[in-house]
Amino acid sequence: MAVPATVTMLLIVAAVLPIVVIRTAEARAFFVFGDSLVDSGNNNYLATTARADSPPYGVDYPTRRPTGRFSNGLNIPDLISERIGQSEPPLPYLSPELTGRRLLNGANFASAGIGVLNDTERAMRGTNGGCSAELQRAAALFNPQLDEVLSELNREIGRDVFVGVNTAQMHNDFVTNPGAFGFATSKVACCGQGPYNGLGLCTPASNLCPNRNLYAFWDAFHPSEKANRIIVEQMFSGTAEYMKPMNLTTILQLDART
Ligand SMILES: *[C@@H]1O[C@H](CO)[C@@H](O)[C@H](O)[C@H]1NC(C)=O
Ligand SMILES: *[C@@H]1O[C@H](CO)[C@@H](O)[C@H](O)[C@H]1NC(C)=O
Repeated sequence: MAVPATVTMLLIVAAVLPIVVIRTAEARAFFVFGDSLVDSGNNNYLATTARADSPPYGVDYPTRRPTGRFSNGLNIPDLISERIGQSEPPLPYLSPELTGRRLLNGANFASAGIGVLNDTERAMRGTNGGCSAELQRAAALFNPQLDEVLSELNREIGRDVFVGVNTAQMHNDFVTNPGAFGFATSKVACCGQGPYNGLGLCTPASNLCPNRNLYAFWDAFHPSEKANRIIVEQMFSGTAEYMKPMNLTTILQLDART
């Protein structure tokens, strides 16, 4: 779990992956590392309280059932997987179904709760419904330095292997102007309890909004599927402000030539 202001590092890993894909004539493998933003069910197999295995998680997933994804529906790796032409997203590495040909699809090693601290979420730290100024400042210090480290790594390798995804800016866009993206609010989570539905995870006893597409945040920590789609769209088509040094469309074009 992570607050939007600090997710850059976590998502970057997810976004790096399509570049390290193993490519055969007809398929790409996709490996995912990270936290609950990209966990597709590993924590179902672990003794942890960071779980998304009961309703209403998954309420908008194709099966309408919880899968361990911290989303009302699809998460970011699901949407990337779709766009790189996989027939199904990589399975959690702990899933007993990850065998045979399915291994060729890659695997998801993400686990919710990595680095979980009480430092994240708006209800505990924010003031008057705003984001926590201290955490925003921490992200503002961290993110440019991450960009520098990645450029350095690319220089050392001699190729653009690492791509920085400016998820802080992506979130900032719909947090500051939710209406422009079709959201009714970015301040209140769809599912949760307490101020802004911002305390704890979503549970069967939580408040649940009727239309998830109107909310930028599904629960206190995680974007809704609709917001995930906006993020992934930027990953594929964003300018250098969002995707450094290049977006995933460009990467796939380069990859297709080799
Ligand atoms: C986070 O806060 C809860 C509730 O106040 C507390 O029980 C828990 O120990 C805290 N966890 C950490 C890592 O500080
Ligand atoms: C990113 O992707 C789009 C294709 O959707 C492309 O037209 C665009 O020029 C790319 N790069 C940048 C830097 O915007």
